[in-house]
Amino acid sequence: MIEQLKALELESLDKLKAIDSLSDLDQWRVEVLGRKGSLALLLRGMGQLPAADRPAVGARANEVKNTLEAAYALAENGIKQQAIGQRLHQDQVDVTLPGRRPGSGRLHLSTQSLQEIGRIFATMGFQVWESPEVELDLFNFELLNIPPYHPARDMQDTFYTTNSDILLRTHTSPGQIRVMRRYAPEPIRVILPGKCYRFEQVTTRSDIQFYQVEGLAVGRHITLADLKGTIANFAIQMFGPGREVRFRYSYFPFTEPSVEADVDCIICGGKGCRLCKYSGWLEIMGAGMVHPTVLRNGGYDPDIYSGFAFGMGPGRISMLQHAIDDIRYILTSDLRFLEQF
Ligand code: PHE
Repeated sequence: MIEQLKALELESLDKLKAIDSLSDLDQWRVEVLGRKGSLALLLRGMGQLPAADRPAVGARANEVKNTLEAAYALAENGIKQQAIGQRLHQDQVDVTLPGRRPGSGRLHLSTQSLQEIGRIFATMGFQVWESPEVELDLFNFELLNIPPYHPARDMQDTFYTTNSDILLRTHTSPGQIRVMRRYAPEPIRVILPGKCYRFEQVTTRSDIQFYQVEGLAVGRHITLADLKGTIANFAIQMFGPGREVRFRYSYFPFTEPSVEADVDCIICGGKGCRLCKYSGWLEIMGAGMVHPTVLRNGGYDPDIYSGFAFGMGPGRISMLQHAIDDIRYILTSDLRFLEQF
C-alpha cells in the first residue's frame, strides 16, 4: 500500500505540473483530493490491512495528503500570478511613444473681432462700457428721439417682453443715454459693445441676434471732423493702410447730421466686384453728431457740449475681412467654420 501511495503521489504531482488553468486545477483537486478522489479511494483499502501495518500506512497517507495539498496551493497561486502578469503585459504602456497633443481651444470669431475693435479704439482713448441687453422702451427709443409712431417700434421689428415697456434692445444706442447720465457733465469717450436683437427675417446679411459696437464722444468743441478722423483711423487699423473712407448723408433720429461710413472695397479696391455689389464701396457703420435733444436727455447742455456717435456691426466687419458670404455661420457653432479663424 505504501508503494501505491508513492505511485499516486508521483502521478498526481506529474498531472499537476501540466495544469495551467484554474478550472483544470479544480478538476484535479476533485479527482485527487476529493471525497471520492483517488487518495480517498486508495485509503478505503486500509481496513483490509493487518492492524500492525495500519499506523505506518496512515502516517504515510497523511504525508502524501499534505504534500498534494501544499502542491495544490502552490499551483493555484502560480496560476493566479500568471494571470495578473498577463494582464499587466497587455496593459503595459510604451513610454517611448510620442504623446497625443490635447486639442487647444481658441477665441470665437465674434470675440476676436470685438477684442480687435476694442484694441483699435483704445489707441484713440476710448474706454469700454457695457449697458443692459434688456432695456426700457424709454432708453431704447424715447430718449433717443425715436417717436412713438416710428416704424422701428413696430411689434414686427422689436422683441417685447410681456410688459410692453421692457424689450430686448434693438441697438446699442440706449447705452449712449446711460453713459451720459452717469458721467454728465464730464467729457466722454467710450465704446459700448454688446448683443442686440431684432424681430426680423433672417437672411445672409442679418440675423435676429447680432453684435453691435456703439461709439460715443461728448465734450466741448467736438465736430464732424473728429468723427471723420476717428472712423478713417479705425478703417486703416482694421482693414490695412491705404484704405479710403467715404461718408454718405443718412438719417437717424438720434444724430444730426447723420452719415453712413463706407470703406473702399477690400477685395477689388474700388473697381467693383461681387463683395461690394459692383459699387466699389462697403458700408461699415452708421454715425453722426449726437442730436441736441439726445444730449439734453443725457444731461448735457447742447449749447455748450457736442458729440459724435457711431454704431457698427462687428459681424458685418468680420464678413468683409474674411470674405464670409453668410452671417449665419458666425452664430451657429459649426467647428468646421470656426476653426478657420
Ligand atoms: N443705432 C444705429 C443702428 O442700429 C446705428 C447708429 C449708432 C447710428 C450711432 C448713428 C449713431 O442702426
